[in-house]
Amino acid sequence: MPGGDPQRGQALISRMGCAGCHTIPGIAGADGNVGPPLTRIGDRIFIAGVLRNTPENMVHWVQHPQSVVPGNAMPEMGITEAQARDIASYLYTLR
Ligand code: HEC
Repeated sequence: MPGGDPQRGQALISRMGCAGCHTIPGIAGADGNVGPPLTRIGDRIFIAGVLRNTPENMVHWVQHPQSVVPGNAMPEMGITEAQARDIASYLYTLR
C-alpha cells in the first residue's frame, strides 16, 4: 500500500471506533457485529460487495462509505486522505 503506515493505521482504527461495528484481527476489543468482520479483508475481491478491492478504492470507501452505498450503516467519520491511507495499509496486512 503506497503512502500509508500500517502501524499508524492500527492506532487510528483503535481510536476511531471501527471496533464497535467490526471484528478486526489485531485490534484490542474489536469484536463488533454491526458490519462484516474485516478478517482477511486484504484478500477480498470486493469492498462492501460493490467496489473492486484496490488500494485507491479502499481509501475512498473508508472516507466516503455513504457516497458508495447510500444509507448503509457505516457513517462518514471525517477521515482525511492521509488517515485513510494509513488505515488501508493496516487493513491490507489482514490476509
Ligand atoms: C456504525 C457502524 C460502523 C462503523 C463505526 C464502521 N463501520 Fe465499516 N462497515 C459498516 C457496515 C454496516 C458495513 C457494510 C456496508 C455495506 O456492505 O454496504 C461496513 C463495511 C466496511 C468495510 C467493507 C467490508 C467488506 O466486507 O467488504 C470496510 C473495509 C470497513 N467497513 C472499514 C471500517 C473502518 C476502517 C472503520 C473505522 C474507521 C469502520 N469501518 C467503521 C459499519 C461500520
